[in-house]
Amino acid sequence: MRHASWNMTGRADEPGGPHAKLRNEFDAWAEAGRGEAMEKGHLPTARQALERVPFDAARPETFLDLGCGNGYIVRLAAERLHPAGTAIGLDVSPRMLAEAERATERFITALERTKGRAPSVRFVEGAFEDLPLEPASVDHCYSNEAIYYSPDIDRALAEILRILKPGGTFHCSLDFFEENTYSHDWQDKVGLPMMMDNADGWVTRFRAAGFVDVSSDRLLDPTEVPPIPDEADEEARTRHGMLAAWKREVGTLLVVGRKPTP
Ligand SMILES: C[S@@+](CC[C@H](N)C(=O)[O-])C[C@H]1O[C@@H](n2cnc3c(N)ncnc32)[C@H](O)[C@@H]1O
Repeated sequence: MRHASWNMTGRADEPGGPHAKLRNEFDAWAEAGRGEAMEKGHLPTARQALERVPFDAARPETFLDLGCGNGYIVRLAAERLHPAGTAIGLDVSPRMLAEAERATERFITALERTKGRAPSVRFVEGAFEDLPLEPASVDHCYSNEAIYYSPDIDRALAEILRILKPGGTFHCSLDFFEENTYSHDWQDKVGLPMMMDNADGWVTRFRAAGFVDVSSDRLLDPTEVPPIPDEADEEARTRHGMLAAWKREVGTLLVVGRKPTP
């Protein structure tokens, strides 16, 4: 098991610290249009993960998406919530949040036109390790392709438990994990520390944090993998094989836990 570390000497939110580095990196991704590209790439499995969130449309619940990027998961959740419910997207990157707000304004107008009333949606700048939310205020928390960037995952998990209501759920999906060999060079490509672990390691971490009913599963992406060009070299062929194996056989790792009820 490889565990990348931020080698922190101070607080994550210090100037020049991990949160500033994450903000700079993901602001640049937003500028380059990668918020929308991630939505397209992640949607097939994120949608499956969201289907497992036990929304109760008869009650006004609160949903939180951690590392919301351009906000597409928040919008999907808003469609599933009671009209008096609340959907919150949290991200460390102000530019991702600006993109999320722009897209959501249009979405809410359309939802109000078709359904008469839409849940309340808001986007919050913040960090997983210090959530700007009240204790026991969230029914369902979700996070896709984000938690492994955390400079302190155990603290992030403790924060998620703090803000969940007793019995509340956390669904966490990841493509960067040990069993997915295609993901093994992503940390070098991104240039930020990313926590690599396997499915059992994530389950153990959730249990150690205090989650109960912890389980893991894999979500396959039915999207067609583009064919490899005839002129591709040996290395490109190997990468293509790993990509196809990830989408068809390995899948996205989904880890689920619940906050215990007293
Ligand atoms: C790879 S993107 C995934 C975005 C989106 N969830 C999706 O499915 O496309 C990771 C997002 O998590 C955010 N992020 C990473 N680490 C964070 C942290 N410690 N606190 C808050 N946001 C963080 C980034 O700013 C970025 O928008």
